[in-house]
Amino acid sequence: MKLSIGRVLTNALFAILFAGSGAAFALGGPGDDAAPTAAAAKATPDAQWPMYNKEYNGQRYSSLDQINTDNVGALREVCRVRVDKGVSFHSGPVVVNGVMYVTTDLITEAINPVTCDVVWKNIYTPDKPEHWFNNRGVAYADGRLFRGTGDDRVLALDAKTGRELWRVVAGDPAVEWFAAAPVVWHGMVFLGVAGAEWGIKGRIMAFDAKTGKRLWTFNLVPQGKEFGVETWKGDSWKTGGGGTWSTVTLDETTGELFIPVANAAADFDQSDRGHGSNLFTDSIVVLDARSGKLKWWYQATINDDKDRDIGAAPMLFTMADGREVVAAGSKDGYLHVVDRKSHKLLYKAAVTTISNNDARVTPEGVHVCPGTLGGVQWNGPAYDPQQKTIVIGAVDWCGTFKSEKMKYKYGDFYYGGTWQLDKTPGKGWINAFDADSGKLRWKFPVPSPVVSAITPTAGGIVFGGDMGGNLYALRSTDGEVLKTIQTGEPIAGGIVTYTIAGKQYVALESGNISRVPWGNAGIPSVIIYTVGEAPQPDAGPTAPLPSPDGDKQAEHAASTAHLVANVAHGKAIYNRICIACHGASGEGQSGPPLKGIGKRLNAEQLLSAIKNPKPPMPVLYPSVLTEQDVTDVAAFVGSR
Ligand code: HEC
Repeated sequence: MKLSIGRVLTNALFAILFAGSGAAFALGGPGDDAAPTAAAAKATPDAQWPMYNKEYNGQRYSSLDQINTDNVGALREVCRVRVDKGVSFHSGPVVVNGVMYVTTDLITEAINPVTCDVVWKNIYTPDKPEHWFNNRGVAYADGRLFRGTGDDRVLALDAKTGRELWRVVAGDPAVEWFAAAPVVWHGMVFLGVAGAEWGIKGRIMAFDAKTGKRLWTFNLVPQGKEFGVETWKGDSWKTGGGGTWSTVTLDETTGELFIPVANAAADFDQSDRGHGSNLFTDSIVVLDARSGKLKWWYQATINDDKDRDIGAAPMLFTMADGREVVAAGSKDGYLHVVDRKSHKLLYKAAVTTISNNDARVTPEGVHVCPGTLGGVQWNGPAYDPQQKTIVIGAVDWCGTFKSEKMKYKYGDFYYGGTWQLDKTPGKGWINAFDADSGKLRWKFPVPSPVVSAITPTAGGIVFGGDMGGNLYALRSTDGEVLKTIQTGEPIAGGIVTYTIAGKQYVALESGNISRVPWGNAGIPSVIIYTVGEAPQPDAGPTAPLPSPDGDKQAEHAASTAHLVANVAHGKAIYNRICIACHGASGEGQSGPPLKGIGKRLNAEQLLSAIKNPKPPMPVLYPSVLTEQDVTDVAAFVGSR
């Protein structure tokens, strides 16, 4: 059997060979023996998955029906490829001209969507320390890919080779970064900054696809004398948060851009920002895409004190009576459906357990459902035109919020309080609502949180995934499970479907650590599925996950038997993986404080606490952390 590069070369080798170069390496591309042709990819209109949510309207519906209710039971893995070490992995794969593109914070990778072979890989070297470490993918147009970075750069890459074409600075990495997958339309690239929790000045921007030049900026929290600034007390608008986490939605006919806006800062204490509506936080903001001028907005949560972002892209559809509407899921646990003409809420439907949502957060604490990681996170409603349903995933996890008067400090979290999730592990839902009435058609209870994208198809199937690693194929008519596949790692990103050489595939991203407080960790991998015969014998049977031993051996060889601790590397690991639970300065969050732990535990005890953790501290070694990583992070933690 021919061995394919994608499966043989582990990412560690890439990292070792190429780290720091910021360059891209072509390893054979479209046109190679196994690679499908662009012509085949264009055979049916839905052969491709050209952007994060498939279409500008955000519906995610695929008209492909080769994989359907009759045969989905035979869905099987074709191949998988490991993309990175244990990092956040929840981008939405994009499939164009017979190539799939996925991202992590530093990696952009082109993958053969039939064989999992790596076509090229670009490892970005940040100019500045990254502010945060997640990325939700690329946008594609005219042979170019566009993406944001953790240090606030927007990049254009050559889609054939991964070579960087331009790079522009568009934010301040001390407080903010780009999480979303951009959208590109008529030569404009739309992308906004994330970082509400750091009290940023949230904004969305348009860049020239050719040059990277910034064309316009719209402040999602109004600044100076801009409209809406009066909804903020004093000059709290300067630190009001309200960035944007996700890709935008666009009506190509009207040129209206729909932006999901994050929460207000400080999150849990409004004393600085007063009791106004704090525009445009927790809203869908509608702009003219060409000029960046405000057209209208809908605010889901007014004067928020519970971190109720609209974190996912809105979705546009037309009701049976012809009304044009926009639907959005919120962390408040509701699906909001709004008339685009009157700008009025038509209906609101609960997608998860709701309780105490209207209670004000107090210093003593209030228990609320959803808690801060509940409701609808970064993947929103999809539309199934066959069933006339809105299908949407959700997290069911309650928690306690406490407020605390807090002074804003540049570069620090600006929570204005604390949050805690309930000890009982979170669960999830996949819901289908009648799109016209908002009446629940069916709901599927999921044993762990659902943050993956939801993908309805003409095959009568709704695909979804959970943080427990399960891929679900549900029957669109009633939510009955037709097939469950345990992928081995949490699913937190896109699930896409496409046709290559006349054959339909389903692909997903498995492995994610970005929601570390949920205790899930995994190796970022792209997995491809189909039914029936594989078209190329070379694709072979299910390829095993490249073992992390590749890493360990390589790094071990490099460092010999005595591992010399690299404290700076340990700090980098801490910031990526440990910070969410143990706090930025080791002060403790959901995990205990680690400050001064070097005095309490000796080096061996510290290594053991990380390698053989007591629950609920997640097991990170050896799946996510190598021997060297543990040595380095222990040295860093012990030195503080
Ligand atoms: C998902 C949250 C989470 C993540 C991520 C996490 N921890 Fe923990 N950690 C915990 C919890 C909870 C405990 C306490 C376990 C117990 O009850 O003893 C803990 C305990 C520890 C302890 C023992 C503390 C003591 O006082 O004995 C150390 C050391 C530690 N973690 C280091 C790390 C390091 C280093 C990382 C990153 C590589 C990390 N943790 C990542 C949640 C986490």
